[in-house]
Parts: sequence; structure tokens; C-alpha cells
Amino acid sequence: MSASPGLLGDTAARDYSHKLHLFNAFAEPELRRVIASLDLKPGARVLDAGCGTGEVLRWLSDEVGPDGAIVGIDLATAHAAAARASAPATALVLQADLLKAPLRSESLDLIWCMNTINHLHDPVAGARQLASLLRPSGRIALCQSSVLPDMYFAWDARLERLVNEAVRQYYRDRYGVSERDLAAIRSLVGVLRQAQLHHVSAQTFVIERVSPLGAADEAYLTEAIFRNTWGARLQPYLSSDDYDELTRLCDPQHPQFALRRPDFHFVQTFTVVVGER
Ligand SMILES: C[S@@+](CC[C@H](N)C(=O)[O-])C[C@H]1O[C@@H](n2cnc3c(N)ncnc32)[C@H](O)[C@@H]1O
Repeated sequence: MSASPGLLGDTAARDYSHKLHLFNAFAEPELRRVIASLDLKPGARVLDAGCGTGEVLRWLSDEVGPDGAIVGIDLATAHAAAARASAPATALVLQADLLKAPLRSESLDLIWCMNTINHLHDPVAGARQLASLLRPSGRIALCQSSVLPDMYFAWDARLERLVNEAVRQYYRDRYGVSERDLAAIRSLVGVLRQAQLHHVSAQTFVIERVSPLGAADEAYLTEAIFRNTWGARLQPYLSSDDYDELTRLCDPQHPQFALRRPDFHFVQTFTVVVGER
């Protein structure tokens, strides 16, 4: 297992499983649609590289049926444990570095890799390494949700722009990554072409919500975004007036709480780039 942290700080000891659970519960309808669009055949052998808490393992398993084989790999002890707990009994979950996956080469029909290739220092080398596990004409699907949602404060584009810039600055300071490193979805086509995959295609799905929100939507936006991604972390990057305004909008107890506004409208893209060996 790699000893040095990944580009975005992943190690075996890192645990952001709660955030991953929240995202997968929130985006389940769209993620199932994306998986269905891959048209997996019953009996297919599929790897989820960087499976996180493993919700996708069940959805992949539903597609390939009882004759298929589903394997999930994740570096983090806590994520692999959560995946083992949530995956169907027929799925195999391994705690391992996906760059050294203990799987036979040329053995897989599909590799699903969601919000993970951008965590590697060298995504092209990662894609090449993963592709070596595919049988001839097997496919790899790199999926990426936009780092910053495309719209969340529909009524205030100015504050939204300032918050986006503050989030970028926070990530640059926290992880020492550049603007280019954070623009992951922009590079997926290039990554697969540089990794010598064929018939590269791209499709972008939209995750869109309006108020009133369901419980999974509210939990993800409030906990994973407002509290755990933004919150006091953004204070150094905003004026005090803007920070106070943001705090009111993100506070479920405040009358101005964004998610209860009748004009709340959330848009986030989810891009899938598929290449063939
Ligand atoms: C943003 S999370 C995405 C998890 C999951 N695919 C999802 O979308 O919910 C990135 C995941 O990749 C894992 N990861 C990062 N580098 C890895 C590596 N070299 N090998 C295996 N897993 C890795 C992390 O532990 C984490 O679970």
C-alpha cells in the first residue's frame, strides 16, 4: 500500500466515509441512471476502483446479476470496512492501492472509477495501470462530479461566485494543489486518450434539485457541503459581511436558511468518460 499520501491527502488511515455516504444517498437516482447507461451484460466482471463506502457495488451488482462478479478496491481502512458492510455478500472488497490491484491482468469487462482518478498524483499512469486489468475491448468509466456545484444560490450569483473562489483558495492552501489540479472533469478525455484507450466518449448528467428537498438531499447539502466543506474554513477568504450572510444561509435554525427558500435550485454536473481497451 502506498505510504505517501495521494494528491488530495488520501492514506489508509484517512476517513471521510460519512461524507461519501451522504453523497451516494443524495445522488443515488442519477448514479443508478449512469450505471444503467453503461449497458452492462449479465455475468460481467466489474471493478470499482476507489469504491469508497461501496454503495455503487450494490447498484453494479443489480446490473450484472448473480452470474457477474463485482470487486471493490479502496486504500482507506474505514472506507473498505464500510464498503464490506454495505456491499452485497457476493461482492469482494479489498483494501489495496488501486495502482497495485491484486487482480489478474485482462480479467475485467468494466472498471468504474468515480471521483477517484483526480486523487492520484499521476492520473494517466493510474488509468494505464487500471486498463491493463481489462480484457480486450473491456471498458473503463471515469466519472467525476464537478468540484463546485454549477448553481446553489440561484438568487445571488455574486455571493455564489465569491464562495466558489473561497472554496478554491481553501483547497489550494490545504492541499497545495493548483487550479489545474482542481479542474478534474476537464481532463478525463485527455487522461483516457493519453492512457491509449480507444473509442473515448463522454456524457454529462445533471444532478438537479429544487425546494422542497428530500431528506437525503437536505442531509448532504447541510452536512457535507455547508458544514463540513464550507463553515468556518471559508472565513479567512470572505469579507465579514459575506461570511455572515453565508452563515445565515447555511444555518438550518435561521429563517434565511437557503434550503427552505422557495427559489432554492441546485445544479451539479456529473461527467462520465468511457474508453475501450
Ligand atoms: C472522493 S472518494 C470517492 C469514493 C467513491 N468512488 C465515491 O464516489 O463515493 C476517493 C476514494 O478513493 C480512495 N483512494 C484514493 N487513492 C487511492 C488509491 N491509490 N488506491 C485505492 N483507493 C484510493 C479514497 O480512499 C476514497 O475512498
